Amino acid sequence: MTRATEPEIDQAANCLGEPGKVAPSIATTAKERKFALAPRRTARSRPAGPAARIPPLDSRAMSPSQTQSKALLRRATKSIPGGVNSPVRAYGSVAGTPPFIVSAKGSKIHDADGNTFIDYVGSWGPMILGHAHPAVIRAVKKAASAGTSFGAPTEGEIEIAEKVCAALPSVQQVRFVSSGTEATMSAIRLARGATGRKKILKFEGCYHGHSDGLLVGAGSGVATLGIPGSPGVPEEFTKLTIQLPFNDLSAVAGAFKHHGDDLACVIVEPVAGNMGCVPPGPGFLEGLREICDRHQTLLIFDEVMTGFRVAWGGAQCLYKVKPDLTCLGKVIGGGLPAAAYGGRRDLMKQIAPAGPVYQAGTLSGNPLAVAAGLVTLERLEQPGVYEKLAAKAERLATGIQKRADAIGVELTTTAVGGMFGLFFHPGPVRNFEDAKKASEQRFRKFFHAMLDEGIYLAPSPYEAAFVSLAHTRGDLSATLQAAEIALEKASKVR
Ligand SMILES: Cc1ncc(COP(=O)(O)O)c(C=O)c1O
Repeated sequence: MTRATEPEIDQAANCLGEPGKVAPSIATTAKERKFALAPRRTARSRPAGPAARIPPLDSRAMSPSQTQSKALLRRATKSIPGGVNSPVRAYGSVAGTPPFIVSAKGSKIHDADGNTFIDYVGSWGPMILGHAHPAVIRAVKKAASAGTSFGAPTEGEIEIAEKVCAALPSVQQVRFVSSGTEATMSAIRLARGATGRKKILKFEGCYHGHSDGLLVGAGSGVATLGIPGSPGVPEEFTKLTIQLPFNDLSAVAGAFKHHGDDLACVIVEPVAGNMGCVPPGPGFLEGLREICDRHQTLLIFDEVMTGFRVAWGGAQCLYKVKPDLTCLGKVIGGGLPAAAYGGRRDLMKQIAPAGPVYQAGTLSGNPLAVAAGLVTLERLEQPGVYEKLAAKAERLATGIQKRADAIGVELTTTAVGGMFGLFFHPGPVRNFEDAKKASEQRFRKFFHAMLDEGIYLAPSPYEAAFVSLAHTRGDLSATLQAAEIALEKASKVR
C-alpha cells in the first residue's frame, strides 16, 4: 500500500503555502505520484518497482472497470430498496453505477473492482483524520474488546461530553444520540417544549435530517431527487415549518412580523453544506441571533456537518455567534454512529430525566462510537490542524476555479474550513435558488470525468466536498490535474 506515513502527511500539509494560492509546483515522493496519478490500477495489475511509469495525462482517461460493482448493485437491488441504504449513494442524479467499496485508508478509497480513488466524500464528512486512522482503529478495538454496548452510563461519555462543552462556548450540557436526524429532531422538540410554541423556521436548501417536520424544501438527497418534500409526511406537520431563502435577513424579518410570537426556533446550517457549500453572508448569522433574541425564539445551529469540520468548535467559533442549541454529528463519531445536541444548561435540564421533554436511545453514547469520537477530537485539538484543513480546501477551490477560468467554463467555487463546493454557474451563489441555477449536465460530465481520473466526489451538485488531514500535496496536485481534464470535458456540454 503506497500511502504517506503520518509524519509525511503532516509535513506535506505544513508545506501547503498561503491559503488561496495555487502552489505552482510541489515536490512529492515518486511513490506518492505513482499512487496518485495512476489511481485506477488494481493491486494485481499495478506494475512494481522502477519500471512503473506515470502515464502521460491524456492517455489516462478511461472509465474504471465496474464489473463487480454492477453485479453487486443488481444483487443489492433485490433485497434493498434501490440497492442502497441512503438515496444519494445510488448515483441517481449522475447516472451510472456507484462503486461498491471494500476498504479505505488515509485519503484513498478502494472498490470491489480493484479501483482506487482519492476520496473527497469522506463518508459524507466524518472521516476528517482520513480513513482507518491507526489511533481510531486502536481505540475502537480496545473499546470493542471491553464490550460493544451496555445501555448503561460509562466514563467515556463524560469525557466526550466534557470535551464538547469545552470546545463550544454555547454548550454547557450535551446529550449524545446516534444520528444527526435524531439530534435535530430532539433539539426542535426541546425548543418547542421550552418555549411552548409550535412553529419553526428553516431555510431552503438546508438539510437537517429526515424527520417529518424538516422535510420541507430540504437540500442534500431531497434536492438531488428534485422533490419538494416526501410522501408520507402529513401536510399538517409541515404547516408548522416556515421556510425562507438562506442569507435573506429581510425575509426573516418579514416572517417574524407574522409569526414571531409563535416561533419556537430558527434552525440553520451556519454554513450551508447540503446545497453545495454556501457560506453565510456578512451579518446573516448575527442578524438571526438578534432577531431571535428580540422575539424570545431559540436559535439552533445545525452543526452536524460544520461541527469540528470548519473550525475547532465549529462554525459558531469561526463566525463568533452563539446559538441557544447546537446539533452535532459526523466528525464527533469519528466514522461511527454518534451525534449530539447541546446548549444552555437551563434549556438542557428540561430533557428527561432532568426535565419533562422526552428523548431516549438504546445505543446512545455507544462505547465504540464514543471511543472513536474522543480520539478524533483529541487529534483535532492539536495546534494548526484547522489551518491545514482550510489550506487544502482553499487550494483545491482556487485551483479548480483558476483552471475553469482559463478554459472559460462558468464556475463558482467556495471553501470554508475543511469543506468546499463547486457550482457550474457564474455566481454569486447565496442560496438554494442560486445553487439550482448551476448546470446539472455540466456537473454530471465533470463528476464522471473526475471518477475516470480516480477522483471520488459526491454524486450530486447539492453536496459539499470534504478534505481530511490525510490528503497529501500529491493528492491535491493529482486532483487539480484531473480537474483540468474534467473541466475541459464539461466545457463541451452546452
Ligand atoms: C447539516 C445536517 N444535519 C443533519 C443531518 C442528518 O444526519 P444523519 O444523516 O446522521 O441523520 C445531515 C446529514 O447529512 C446534515 O448534513
